[in-house]
Amino acid sequence: MTVQPQRPAFGSVLTSHMAAAFFKNGQWSDTEIKPVAPIELSPGAHVLHYASSCFEGFKAFRHADGSVHVFRMDRHIERLRQSARALVLPEPDPKQLADMVRAVISRCRDAVPETPGALYLRPILFGTTSNIGAAATPTSESTLLVLASPVWDYFAGGMKPLRILVDAEHTRSAAQFGMVKTGGNYAAALGPTLAARAKYQVDQVLFCPGGEVQETGAANFLLVRDGRLLTRSLDASFLHGVTRDSVLQLARDMGYEVVERVFDVPEMLDWVKTGEATLSGTAAVLAGVGTLIYLGAEHRVADGEVGPLTRALRTRLIGIQQGEVPDSHGWLERVY
Ligand code: PLP
Ligand code: COI
Repeated sequence: MTVQPQRPAFGSVLTSHMAAAFFKNGQWSDTEIKPVAPIELSPGAHVLHYASSCFEGFKAFRHADGSVHVFRMDRHIERLRQSARALVLPEPDPKQLADMVRAVISRCRDAVPETPGALYLRPILFGTTSNIGAAATPTSESTLLVLASPVWDYFAGGMKPLRILVDAEHTRSAAQFGMVKTGGNYAAALGPTLAARAKYQVDQVLFCPGGEVQETGAANFLLVRDGRLLTRSLDASFLHGVTRDSVLQLARDMGYEVVERVFDVPEMLDWVKTGEATLSGTAAVLAGVGTLIYLGAEHRVADGEVGPLTRALRTRLIGIQQGEVPDSHGWLERVY
């Protein structure tokens, strides 16, 4: 038996260096590569009082020949710029940000784990102007950092089927922030998620405001059955996952019919009598759901195990990311 080395919890370890750029007087500074260390921030900083902050999460993978490749960075950079606009923060320059990411990966190349690990990249942008009266005024100064973290599984149980509470009562975010990757959304999901964990021992909450299936606190939600994949159509109410987009493309490549439309909780519960349910996200990858809990009743998803369609899609996605399956959509960029 091989003994698995102890792996740190997802995101709990940062690499030695980060990239930083500062917005002041209407322009971005040059990039600095610095050791990861506490940062100086005025106690009056805009972000601390008025939550002017957004972030991204994506991964770089080490291939068998030692080269390192980043997955769909352009999409994540575009989404950070969209989040910045929604929060009235200065938009990062896409070329500068891509170079910051490449610089961090190169500087921290020894920290990129072998598969099945990856280097998780976390750009974060926040308002630093000191003015505690600026509730209705945007920050004029901001900081952009790119952090990195060697990661393995997000869910502690690895490929264990997930238990999910179906919550038709709470919302995950304010209506205008559904598509925005900002800390406040995670703060809004935290209370309901902890309460659900304590009461039902679930891994996540699936938010279904008004009875319409939306997404979980940190991943999108997909149903798969009989050669069809069903997921909510893109609208402003939820985060447009890059993994969701990739999996939909792979499902089409594999001959599935992909259906994007609004569906409600009763339709989902009917679907999972024989179908599969799965979460999709950079951290979650594709994580199969074994049980849905709704209004106190447990609904087993098919036989309660991670299903074959979820496994096939996950294997294809990971195969591309790890360089074992041809990257026919051009999703990887070789960094070194
Ligand atoms: N929805 C939420 C709320 C998330 O936090 C994430 C993770 O980033 C996703 C969906 C999935 O997005 P992506 O696949 O781009 O990582
Ligand atoms: C991601 O999948 O990148 C996420 O942002 C999830 C999470 C760790 C907040």
